[in-house]
Amino acid sequence: MAKQPEVIRDKACMLSWSRSHRWKGKTLALVPTMGFLHQGHLSLIRKAKAHADVVVVSIYVNPGQFAPSEDLATYPSDLHGDLQKLADAEVDAAFCPSNLYDCESDGVPGGAGSGGGNERTVVSCLEAGDGGGGGGHETWIRVERLEKGLCGKRRPVFFRGVATVVAKLFNIVEPDVAVFGKKDYQQWRIICRMVCDLDFGIKVIGSEIVREADGLAMSSRNVHLSPEQREKALSINRSLLQAKYSVQKEKHSCQDLKNLVVQTITKAGGRIDYVEVSWCSSMKEYNSL
Ligand code: PAF
Repeated sequence: MAKQPEVIRDKACMLSWSRSHRWKGKTLALVPTMGFLHQGHLSLIRKAKAHADVVVVSIYVNPGQFAPSEDLATYPSDLHGDLQKLADAEVDAAFCPSNLYDCESDGVPGGAGSGGGNERTVVSCLEAGDGGGGGGHETWIRVERLEKGLCGKRRPVFFRGVATVVAKLFNIVEPDVAVFGKKDYQQWRIICRMVCDLDFGIKVIGSEIVREADGLAMSSRNVHLSPEQREKALSINRSLLQAKYSVQKEKHSCQDLKNLVVQTITKAGGRIDYVEVSWCSSMKEYNSL
């Protein structure tokens, strides 16, 4: 039977577990996830194993990156199944905190407003940073320029929530290496920038998208798609491949490429949020094709 990973729920225990491995001369890799693991996550774990002696996978649905209108309450979860997958993948530890925002009031040990660890407390802890005496969480990391465009335009709290929780995880786990999927490309660039700007001294590794046989990018949220929605979603990859082939074959303007993507997706019955052509590193809009 596969060896179960050590399941750690407490921040202080996580840090001492990591440090005890470091003292033994081991290098550590962290794979941050929100759980409901699939083959995409397992590919990140394989990458992590290739880069470090010991692998920690965190499973935490971070309330700080969800706006009130978003799907925090319905985000899929299956901790039991996840732990089995981590055992099969021979992961050393699973960090599964119930609340990463349970600091003491005003950061003063013993102060009022310390969180109790349940989901309601997480929400009130996040909301209570109003100077009104509650515990609250008031420190956010903003990667100012990179978070503005693309997904950041439609999801104004998302990237500050991601950058903040990833920084917290880095402080709690103290990894040498951290692995992220490039499916969330803007997120990946933002994390690279944060690590560089704040001198985290952690090597950030990006891993390529893993797709289903029919081309759909793997994502925990795919479980919520009806068969019809899933069919429509295939048009995203199809449209991007068409745009790629067109630009390889002959010169096209950015507007032509955007039109091609919009047409393919709308024809399949999909609704467009945004289509932009951007530089890979700066993520600035690219207009001069
Ligand atoms: O990509 C994700 O699953 C999340 O945004 C992350 C990086 C684990 C932070 O909560």
